[in-house]
Amino acid sequence: MIRRASIPGRINILGEHTDYAGGCSLAFASQHRLILEAEFIESGVFGEETVVALWSEAGGPPARLNVSSNIPIGKGMSSSAALCLGIVLCVHGDSLDRQDACKEAQRLEHVVLGTPCGLLDQMAMMHSIEECCTLIDFSSLETSTIPYPNTWKFKLVDSGIQRTLNSEDYRQTTSEVKKKLHVREENARVRQALNSTNEQLGELMNQTHESLRMIGVSTPEVDSIVKSLQSKEGVLGARMMGGGFGGMILVLVENDSVLPQHPLLVPSKAGFIEELF
Ligand code: GLA
Repeated sequence: MIRRASIPGRINILGEHTDYAGGCSLAFASQHRLILEAEFIESGVFGEETVVALWSEAGGPPARLNVSSNIPIGKGMSSSAALCLGIVLCVHGDSLDRQDACKEAQRLEHVVLGTPCGLLDQMAMMHSIEECCTLIDFSSLETSTIPYPNTWKFKLVDSGIQRTLNSEDYRQTTSEVKKKLHVREENARVRQALNSTNEQLGELMNQTHESLRMIGVSTPEVDSIVKSLQSKEGVLGARMMGGGFGGMILVLVENDSVLPQHPLLVPSKAGFIEELF
């Protein structure tokens, strides 16, 4: 038997560095996908080293493991959360509910990859619905599905700065006071976004970037790329996305002809598993 897991990338509109602090986020699943194929065999576990380590920690049976993915790696789109979720779905099939699958994938990321992540990535990947975004409240782990207005035009621009998050930096070295202020204001921005015009949404994204800079998860190089994008004609807002220190910049544009070399993001469906015999 072969199990095949298909997991999307994660786009976070607003609500960055709030998940592990019981805040909220507005996110969606992107059209990018990671596919993990697990062929169950008699003995042994074969595949790339990290994949085998994750599979063993998850208690997977003998298998041949093959990963293909177009989720950019180390770019703030949660390629590692997608891999961990793929492992969990292939090991457990349909026997875990979505939220338990998210928590198990988070555990694997903590234990095997050494990243002390929250649940944003996993929940956005497992609870999202096509043409919608997902409001996640991390204080209760409740999600609500919000229709994605067709006037929202998001694009990604690669800062070209590679990052890793298995460092202490991820949970910020800044003061507790600044962190608390960031989460409080970020939560307010998430709520405001639900009733805002596109111009206001862009402005909220700019404010988020400024706040990420204040808590010390951006870099001067990223700040200058964000700034130049923000001042570009037709750009309504831009901010660094994900854990920080580089990776993708999320840009809200007036229409598709702005930044023409970058494709529009399309809210896609959640992670799922299929069995092939
Ligand atoms: C990474 C982590 C998430 C979240 C974001 C920042 O993607 O994996 O849990 O904390 O950073 O919002």
